[in-house]
Amino acid sequence: MTLRPDLVPVSPATRVVTCAADEIGEVAADIVATIASDGVLGVATGSSPLALYAALVRRRAEGLRTEGLRLFALDEYVGLSTDDPRSYAAYVRSVIAEPLGIPAENVRVPRGSTDADGAAYERAIAEAGGVDVQVVGIGRNGHIGFNEPGSNAETRTRVVELDESTRRANAEHFDGDLTQVPTHALTQGVATILSARRIVLVAAGSAKAAALRSALAGPVTADNPASFLQRHPDVTVVADPDALRENR
Ligand code: GLP
Repeated sequence: MTLRPDLVPVSPATRVVTCAADEIGEVAADIVATIASDGVLGVATGSSPLALYAALVRRRAEGLRTEGLRLFALDEYVGLSTDDPRSYAAYVRSVIAEPLGIPAENVRVPRGSTDADGAAYERAIAEAGGVDVQVVGIGRNGHIGFNEPGSNAETRTRVVELDESTRRANAEHFDGDLTQVPTHALTQGVATILSARRIVLVAAGSAKAAALRSALAGPVTADNPASFLQRHPDVTVVADPDALRENR
């Protein structure tokens, strides 16, 4: 594992940790473990954070207390029931909450199809005292949560239309059938994500390299919503060399 001081000047508050793909989970888990007993954890779905959640489950077996965590998910597809295994609600339940012993009443996933549903989600986060550590992945087009390019820094939890490229990337979870992939999602906004006290971005693989490079070293712009992370005072990027390839 190495720190990448060459990237730090991009944003003094951003640390970039390069490690082997199979170490990403443990490095990210070190950060999450700091709030494990009673913190508010913002969780991303997708494949990138799977190793992190697996690491937390292993640590729980070794004695880490995770049952007191409260979870807030980043986003959810519009139109899928919470029982649908392709829903993010099902992912959060089966991959994170149940293996970590977190009771269902302490788990929130955006739900609904209106901006009023988004506003209710914002209130729930505020009532919990805000997010202590927010885990994010990055989409190939620079999206965080489902904030597609064009999402500005002021956005809050709302209904968004998904880019076709995002739907294509996620079609693998829908039998490879693009027509089954929902067209809309309810997602925390960029401002919501930036409200977290600490952010951990996990990324692996060359498919993320271009988006990650412009997020870290490019201009801060809605063209790459992940670039707004440069404005946050405490971001740790945990990525493998392939994801950071274009930064060399
Ligand atoms: C989805 C999610 C994002 C996630 C992204 C990357 O679109 N809404 O929250 O970060 O995909 O997913 P993966 O980690 O599987 O590449």
